[in-house]
Amino acid sequence: MAGAGAAAPLVTDLSLDDLERDARHAIGEMAYAYYAGGAEDERLLEGNVAAWGRWQLHPHVLAGLAEVSTATTLLGSAVDSPVAVAPTAIQGLAHPEAEMATARGAAAAGALLVLSSLATCALEDVAAAAPDAPRWMQVYVLRERARTADLVARAAAHGYRALVLTVDAPVPGLRLREWRQGVHLPDDLALPNLAGESTRSARGGGFMAVVANECEPALSPDDVGWLTGLSGLPVVVKGVQRADDAVRCVEAGAAAVVVSNHGARQLADAPPTADILAEIADAVGGRAEVYVDGGVRRAPDVVKALALGARAVLVGRPSLWALATGGADGVTALLRWFEAELRRAMALCGTGTVEAIERGLVRRALG
Ligand SMILES: Cc1cc2nc3c(=O)[nH]c(=O)nc-3n(C[C@H](O)[C@H](O)[C@H](O)COP(=O)(O)O)c2cc1C
Repeated sequence: MAGAGAAAPLVTDLSLDDLERDARHAIGEMAYAYYAGGAEDERLLEGNVAAWGRWQLHPHVLAGLAEVSTATTLLGSAVDSPVAVAPTAIQGLAHPEAEMATARGAAAAGALLVLSSLATCALEDVAAAAPDAPRWMQVYVLRERARTADLVARAAAHGYRALVLTVDAPVPGLRLREWRQGVHLPDDLALPNLAGESTRSARGGGFMAVVANECEPALSPDDVGWLTGLSGLPVVVKGVQRADDAVRCVEAGAAAVVVSNHGARQLADAPPTADILAEIADAVGGRAEVYVDGGVRRAPDVVKALALGARAVLVGRPSLWALATGGADGVTALLRWFEAELRRAMALCGTGTVEAIERGLVRRALG
């Protein structure tokens, strides 16, 4: 446990807007369109961010706190903070070391990494880049289920501790920015975790084509059980947006759910995640862990998410900007900034541990 403010620098002046601008300059317009874009008219992109701002933190004083700890566990894995790296595809567009750099950066910050199955590095190489760090593998159930089974076996054999099943992509969202920019996989990159046609398909038709052609559109709760049975690894269902669906996931054996709208890349008219988190967490009622992502950009957002019932948050685009501008060190700096500012926010709220963050710490902003 670090003393409140003791060892940490007084100020880490990190601006995500600056990071995004510098990343755009570094990676060029095609990669930027892929990373930054959302579905349809992109209304939910800003909506996700803005929704956190409609909650306020309502601090305790005289809490008698000498120390603050941001440490927690995620499905039993110890982490330094409840801010994890979301699975984002095709990191080879951001940095030559791609997902290996993200893994090293997350490991140095004591954070959990979730690797996308559309990674441009082999999952074996990502494991070797940060062998002792906690990592989970994101999976899609593919129409050719043997290919999913193969991916799961490889992940289980290389120390991935959970499978994150993404369920919000029965079809690709209408990614107009991506489409208009002609986003595709360049010839020097591949998708080594998906055997079969995926790499060729992503070079020709782009990433929307991979989802459209290869992902199983007709998923049901039985698929959670199917996935669990493949390896015995815990299954985290990502992309849940309703309390009743969360309950169906839990009843089907999910160890956790991620409240997510895929970073505004699927259904643009869905509600921001900050607005639906509490009702989902309440319905789950402690039977599974609950995480959230979408528009988390500041440490106080993390406190709000935990107060609304999440055990952790995932950050997507900020980690891509950090990777693009600073490689592994950039990812570490981003995560350490979140952690330091989370410690500050918790101290200002009068909560010494993440477990102590409860619903009474948040209020709806008036007006
Ligand atoms: C460029 C990009 C690629 C993504 N690729 C995947 C993916 O392969 N699998 C997945 O489950 N989610 C994917 N996501 C969604 C993220 O895991 C996460 O839900 C989202 O980025 C969180 O929102 P934020 O970017 O506002 O933090 C992607 C998001 C972005 C921005």
